[in-house]
Amino acid sequence: MPELELDIHLDADEWAPQLRTDVLNGLTSSPKTLPPKWFYDDRGSDLFDQITRLPEYYPTNAERQILRKRAAEIAELSGADTLIELGSGTSEKTRVLLDAFTSSGQLQRFVPFDVSEQTLIDAAKVIGEDYPEMSIHGVVGDFERHLEMLPTGGRRVIVFLGGTIGNFAPTQRQEFLEQVVSTLNPGDSFVLGTDLVKDHGRLVAAYDDSQGVTAEFNKNVLAVVNRHLGANFDVDSFEHVAIFDAENAWIEMRLRSLVDQTVHIADLDLDVSFTAGEEMRTEISAKFTRDRVAAELSDVGLDLVEWWTDAAGDYALSLSTRR
Ligand code: AVJ
Repeated sequence: MPELELDIHLDADEWAPQLRTDVLNGLTSSPKTLPPKWFYDDRGSDLFDQITRLPEYYPTNAERQILRKRAAEIAELSGADTLIELGSGTSEKTRVLLDAFTSSGQLQRFVPFDVSEQTLIDAAKVIGEDYPEMSIHGVVGDFERHLEMLPTGGRRVIVFLGGTIGNFAPTQRQEFLEQVVSTLNPGDSFVLGTDLVKDHGRLVAAYDDSQGVTAEFNKNVLAVVNRHLGANFDVDSFEHVAIFDAENAWIEMRLRSLVDQTVHIADLDLDVSFTAGEEMRTEISAKFTRDRVAAELSDVGLDLVEWWTDAAGDYALSLSTRR
């Protein structure tokens, strides 16, 4: 077995007070909001996994198609001996990259970074068996807070896949990119997955599928709040809404109250009233153009080197390097 090192920057007991703060802030602001990071309990993660296999949800397959085609180029262009993956999860997609980096003989170290310690340990074990020639240095952290804790040294490439950057609001996104850059040395690379602006009907369908899986995924966040904060949301008295906000170029998912109702959140000692038709925002998923990605990367000191899309032009992977 290869060497496995693990840094833990997030304690298992940290998320509970964070959920409280997020729910208190979100439900007392106007309009009401809940952040998307709370979708992913066991059921939410399973529902998201189902989403990635829906006919309407193209990003996952599009990204896989690009990765398969471009993994060798990513290895060569980056010249990296250290592959850092943010939000690595089960590291399934990463295998395509690991294969390319190991067959060229350049990879010395894989650094999976994830919020979930268990997911990380499980993934590291399986990956470690399949790629015995590299060391694994896992990092448990929140990619909005702990990027500066990444292990240093080597020629590095940071990859952030799935289009997850779209969940950040513009200011958050810039702060995130600044953090990424500050962990890179000149010449190091950043590989970013971004979903692209396209026909609005297809965009909305990807977030409002005909089988209702995304609706279940969205409503599940209410069950998470019920379970962890002693709330009494009647999940079925809310309906799923997905719209494309063309001005901001993002998909917005909301939950719309079907009736006038008051929800009690016992652990916060809080009553929250919804009027019939009131909408609460649960997620934004920003959609990009090449120019926009290039400009936002450039603003933080990253030069766009390559831009690859799938055959349909739905989704892009970019490779940029630190100036
Ligand atoms: C995991 C954030 C990339 O925004 O497309 C899928 C989450 N939400 N369907 C996305 C999601 C609704 C997804 N990301």
